[in-house]
Amino acid sequence: MRVFVADHPLIAHKLTVLRDTQTTQPTFRALTEELVTLLAYEATREVSVSPVTIQTPVTQATGVRLSHPRPLVVPILRAGLGMLEGMVTLLPTAEVGFLGMVRNEETLQPVTYAERLPDDLSDRTCFVLDPMLATGGSLAAAIQFLFDRGAQDVTAICILAAPEGLDALEKATAGRHVKLVLGAVDERLNEHGYIVPGLGDAGDRLYGTI
Ligand code: URA
Repeated sequence: MRVFVADHPLIAHKLTVLRDTQTTQPTFRALTEELVTLLAYEATREVSVSPVTIQTPVTQATGVRLSHPRPLVVPILRAGLGMLEGMVTLLPTAEVGFLGMVRNEETLQPVTYAERLPDDLSDRTCFVLDPMLATGGSLAAAIQFLFDRGAQDVTAICILAAPEGLDALEKATAGRHVKLVLGAVDERLNEHGYIVPGLGDAGDRLYGTI
């Protein structure tokens, strides 16, 4: 697994506001989108492009366009949905699939409760969106789901990660082509599975406690 941790003062500034309990829900939503757009710049660095020839007002020129089939963006419900607009701002032609993962409270294993994805991902560039890499369970399961559908390499974007989640994801994806782009790596997980210092429950801060 290749891990990229953002190193940019604008990202650090926006993350600080995001963490602050005083930040209102509308600001939290807007900042999440902005942060994802900034992280998407790194996440899409190796997106596949094909050469094209175009006519400028002055002359003929060569350039590139995103290759077909279109990239696939997969937000993990619910909190990943808050990252979607930020991602498609940079990749407006991407297709969007959905994965709903929930933890089975008896087995503690993540289970898929909803999915809308192509059957065959063998030629797709896949981007998974999940804001908080805490234990790593749901992100690992989501990435495995995409590999089971034939994906060859997967890029995940998370806003914050705990070292414990990074280790777990590293083990779960050993031998696979996985790239992980992060806003920051925090100190640790607490006894309730929250990232410390973190930002609290990302889904609740985006959508409320329903
Ligand atoms: N999920 C969250 O939303 N926040 C955490 O701190 C950990 C997991």
